[in-house]
Amino acid sequence: MVIEPRMRGFICLTAHPVGCEQNVKNQIAYVKSKGAIHGPKRVLVIGASTGFGLASRITSAFGSNASTIGVFFEKPPMEGKTASPGWYNSAAFEKEAHKAGLYAKSINGDAFSKEVKQQTIDMIKSDLGQVDLIIYSLASPVRLHPDTGVLHRSTLKPIGKTFTNKTVDFHTGKVSEVSIEPATEEDIANTVVVMGGEDWAMWIDALKEADVLADGITTIAYSYIGPEVTEAVYRKGTIGRAKDHLEATAFEITEKLKDYNGKGYVSVNKALVTQASSAIPVIPLYISLLYKIMKAEGIHEGCIEQIQRLYADRLYTGKPVPTDGEGRIRIDDWEMRSDVQDRIAKLWDESTTETLVELGDLSGYKQDFLNLFGFGFDGVDYLADVDEMVQVPSIK
Ligand code: NAD
Ligand code: NA
Repeated sequence: MVIEPRMRGFICLTAHPVGCEQNVKNQIAYVKSKGAIHGPKRVLVIGASTGFGLASRITSAFGSNASTIGVFFEKPPMEGKTASPGWYNSAAFEKEAHKAGLYAKSINGDAFSKEVKQQTIDMIKSDLGQVDLIIYSLASPVRLHPDTGVLHRSTLKPIGKTFTNKTVDFHTGKVSEVSIEPATEEDIANTVVVMGGEDWAMWIDALKEADVLADGITTIAYSYIGPEVTEAVYRKGTIGRAKDHLEATAFEITEKLKDYNGKGYVSVNKALVTQASSAIPVIPLYISLLYKIMKAEGIHEGCIEQIQRLYADRLYTGKPVPTDGEGRIRIDDWEMRSDVQDRIAKLWDESTTETLVELGDLSGYKQDFLNLFGFGFDGVDYLADVDEMVQVPSIK
């Protein structure tokens, strides 16, 4: 069928299999162009199908020749109905990895569940023996707790008082004011359960118990800090509490991995357009200003540039991994440069529906948003009839 983007608010209901494949191929080509990384050989990526997790899987495989197992939660296609983009990305990734002679298998299911953890352990045992890198890159609005059966929902709210600031509807370019009511204690607790570090630690416990961790095992989860303008709704809001918990969990995990000379890290990454970040008020306006400035400075990066730099310049240099005062790896260093942030603070005040056209990079935002779903890629014929029933080779 011919597949067009069908937007509903901050999501797109369709995904283009050939465009998703092009996205994966472009990321592979980028990683290859940067040369070999003396990195991991057997990698588990939890949250491997989109965003930073997909970039981690691609960098592991095509930068370091690693075998990869990818875990994700995606919608397969049905006749006449497209799959979710992460499904098509994973299909394309496996196809390219297999072509390159690399082991790549995937598990589609709820990573928070005991069943998916067990399935992953069984796959590692039968195929790889052990893993030497575990990337934890889940972004989910809900978590069904495996012990209690309670379904927890995360929220994106300020803590303490109502937050009012500017935001932009990136579809129309309209700048307006939004107010978000403060979170309840329950909202905070639920967000920490969903996006904090408990599940990451459960994964490490299960893998350790199963004896599938290699000596020198490294595990990394991704976090975000960001600027003052988004602080009330992000880092000092409900999601920030979850990130505080995730960051604290890294130290607990390092403790658990002592016998393996292993280490748990958090990497603080740059703000990027994803399905999740588009739904957070205020963030799209910040990102449109950030993109404009970083592109003008020649320091703009997407997920793949960020993760390639994480591996090549931070993790696998043969030298100790540089961290900040709180033990975190920082690849948000260019975003947080004071000249970049000073400019954003100034442009923030000047941004209106009329001025943002010039001040911000709304077209870059829209382009990235379309790209998430496989639309807007050069070299893809979007008028062509394509097969929506594309499968992930390793998933039967
Ligand atoms: P994303 O939505 O692109 O990716 C999320 C991944 O998690 C997908 O592979 C999805 O299939 C998987 N997933 C979700 N629920 C699952 C479940 N129950 N079981 C199995 N898999 C599941 O998100 P992203 O933006 O790449 O975020 C990944 C991490 O990076 C998050 O911790 C996020 O906070 C962090 N981060 C994001 C940004 C940003 O600007 N996007 C910046 C810094 C850090
Ligand atoms: Na991800």
